[in-house]
Amino acid sequence: MHIHNYEKIWLAASVLLILLLLGSVTYGAVGPGVAMVSDSEQAIDAGGLDDDDRFSEPRVEQVGENEYEAYVVAYQFGFQPDPIVVPENSTVTFYVTSRDVIHGFEVAGTNANTMVVPGEVSKITVETDDRQEYGLICNEYCGAGHHVMEGKVNVVS
Ligand code: CUA
Repeated sequence: MHIHNYEKIWLAASVLLILLLLGSVTYGAVGPGVAMVSDSEQAIDAGGLDDDDRFSEPRVEQVGENEYEAYVVAYQFGFQPDPIVVPENSTVTFYVTSRDVIHGFEVAGTNANTMVVPGEVSKITVETDDRQEYGLICNEYCGAGHHVMEGKVNVVS
């Protein structure tokens, strides 16, 4: 009898855990305002960014009716451009690379988050919602100024 009750408790606990996990996944996928929908990586020469079409002038470009591409460079200790200005209710693909060491690219309060590695271009696609200002933070330790490395993503109408 004791063993039976013990098992029931564990069963209930594991069901609860699964529900909690499902809840967090669902919440993360919906996200507030800006939601990441995919990510991947490509190779690049970290020392040659100034000669690169995309990264010599970090910027946001319109590529379709509601589609934008943002070319972003992370460096010790900030992001270019800053702020990154993108329109509301659009699909934005961020191409992010590093000029020096490993950084993070996290749009605060959303699930848009990727590691930024020198020699690689991190590509993440997000859907923007209504106009809002977001903090952009580095979540990988990158040196003495890591804690002050931040930028802004402004979703505008
Ligand atoms: Cu860049 Cu921490």
